[in-house]
Amino acid sequence: MCGIIGISSNKSVSANIVNSLKKLEYRGYDSAGIATLSDGKINEFKSEGRVDKLEQNFDLKNLKGNIGIGHVRWATHGMPNSVNAHPHSSFNVSVVHNGIIENSTVLKKHLVEQGHNFKSQTDTEVIVHLITENLKTKDFEVAITKTLKQLHGSFALGIVFKDMPDLIVGARRGSPLAVGYGPNENYLGSDSYALKSMTNKVTYLDDGEFCIVKKDQVLFFNEEGKKINKKILELSSNEASYDKGDFKHFMAKEIEEQPNTIKTGIKEYIDKTNSEINIFNFPWKVSEINSITLIGCGTAYHSCLMAKYWFDELTQLDVNIDIASEFRYRKNRFKENSLYIFVSQSGETADTYAALDLCNKNKMKTCAVVNVIESSIARDSKFVLPIHCGPEIGVASTKAFLGQILILYILALKLSSLRKEITKENYQEKIKDLQDLPKLIEKSLLIDNDIQAISSTFNEAKGSMFLGRGFSYPIALEGALKLKELSYVHAEGYPAGEMKHGPLALIEDGMPVVVLAPRDSYYLKTISNMQEVIARGAKVLLITNKIKDEVVSENIWETIEVENTNNDLLPFLLTIPLQKLAYYSALKKGYDIDKPRNLAKSVTVE
Ligand code: AGP
Repeated sequence: MCGIIGISSNKSVSANIVNSLKKLEYRGYDSAGIATLSDGKINEFKSEGRVDKLEQNFDLKNLKGNIGIGHVRWATHGMPNSVNAHPHSSFNVSVVHNGIIENSTVLKKHLVEQGHNFKSQTDTEVIVHLITENLKTKDFEVAITKTLKQLHGSFALGIVFKDMPDLIVGARRGSPLAVGYGPNENYLGSDSYALKSMTNKVTYLDDGEFCIVKKDQVLFFNEEGKKINKKILELSSNEASYDKGDFKHFMAKEIEEQPNTIKTGIKEYIDKTNSEINIFNFPWKVSEINSITLIGCGTAYHSCLMAKYWFDELTQLDVNIDIASEFRYRKNRFKENSLYIFVSQSGETADTYAALDLCNKNKMKTCAVVNVIESSIARDSKFVLPIHCGPEIGVASTKAFLGQILILYILALKLSSLRKEITKENYQEKIKDLQDLPKLIEKSLLIDNDIQAISSTFNEAKGSMFLGRGFSYPIALEGALKLKELSYVHAEGYPAGEMKHGPLALIEDGMPVVVLAPRDSYYLKTISNMQEVIARGAKVLLITNKIKDEVVSENIWETIEVENTNNDLLPFLLTIPLQKLAYYSALKKGYDIDKPRNLAKSVTVE
């Protein structure tokens, strides 16, 4: 999604703006731009494509200006090209924007009638002209407050003014925005990651607030334009974890980091000595919760679905799951004894945040399972269970998925124990098995040669299917999502038992089909479904777990065996070959693995 940076300094800012834009590249984008103020002028430079191209096209090294804004754009209104790229400027104002202005068409009509000329097809340009118009009659802060009130929709903004060469205005509604503090300079950024190389001291703007950033001072205002005080937070994680190291792609690194993700999660949540789960500060009594709703988007939604299988297995709780973009507009019946769990890597996904906000407004019990603990979803949830998997940069989520399902599994176990729905022996046995998981993941990662050979078949196919039952069904969905987003191959995740109700018609000679059939209670049923697709010509890649018994089936094209563990934990291991399958397919096609086309890491618009 779009990324914003702004710097107000006592020295030239262009190099640091460009560096910060490179940090924001992970969000996914199609064009980039920068504007600085110098000698009473706005200097605006924009290009379609990557930040490198912006640097090649313009001599940014010699660009003057101690104050400036930068942007990477993920197109919403208007084609990705240099005209629609941000910043957008009038003769006196320049703006960068992340979000969507829903009433831009109406506003534009009025502004055109007032004589404003528009150059781009974007909704953002409306903001530029609206400020220019409001500055004609109002004092500075009043003009800003008025402009923000006239905008409907979501935004994070960075604004510079030709006639005020010592300040940047930042504003937030819906889309995240952080202020950073440095020596003789201060910053604005879409996230703390963009500011990381310059500072670890940040303040997050809350919805409706705006700020004025000068090199030696930052002022904050509420939506009525009244000055407010805000806390400065000190961030902890180190810059080194943002490095690819010897890996070709962040995704490859993040896949290999998964034993560590699980190790860290276990260290944080499991008390080995007493075989107990360390979730003590749960703010509600278990007797106050009789149902759970898990909400997320994309991979995080798959984590929710995975968790439903575990909660159903381990507890008597009534468990529902929902896609955030559906939940937020549905007529929901909010019940007092429900716990709402929001799952998100970034903690900034607009739909998930809106669903959380809705629950908070209805005074529900809200809990976040997030990776970025400084995020909006973490800050606004009543209880937070961090994933602790470190920064995930590849757009395709890998280690965050395993991190999310680990925490959700641990929570299901804990609630089962507190509700006395699991015997002490069984509980402790499951905790013990968990501790072996990092090693088993490590071993299951050693499949690169097999997967590389198999991946060509998926590349060349018109389409593919991923089938699973029970605990393996959410993993089939996740495997299909990974292949679609990285290799741009049509991939459908389906419950294996549902094939005969329609999708079986898709199977034709040579179509690659992944069947997830670990030796759990669904095994024989899944194997029967697998036979049905083989009989219709499918090329089946069977993924199962290593046990002594041979697989009772014929005509399987390829088999991959992951390590063995208890049934609850098999989904962790089944995920690994699917991540690698997607990775190698995209690698063979030469696609941009860490930044697949049309996608963004942090989806901060609806
Ligand atoms: C996963 O590979 C995706 N890129 C995407 O589905 C992602 O999981 C989704 O956008 C939710 O993001 P979040 O976890 O940051 O909320």
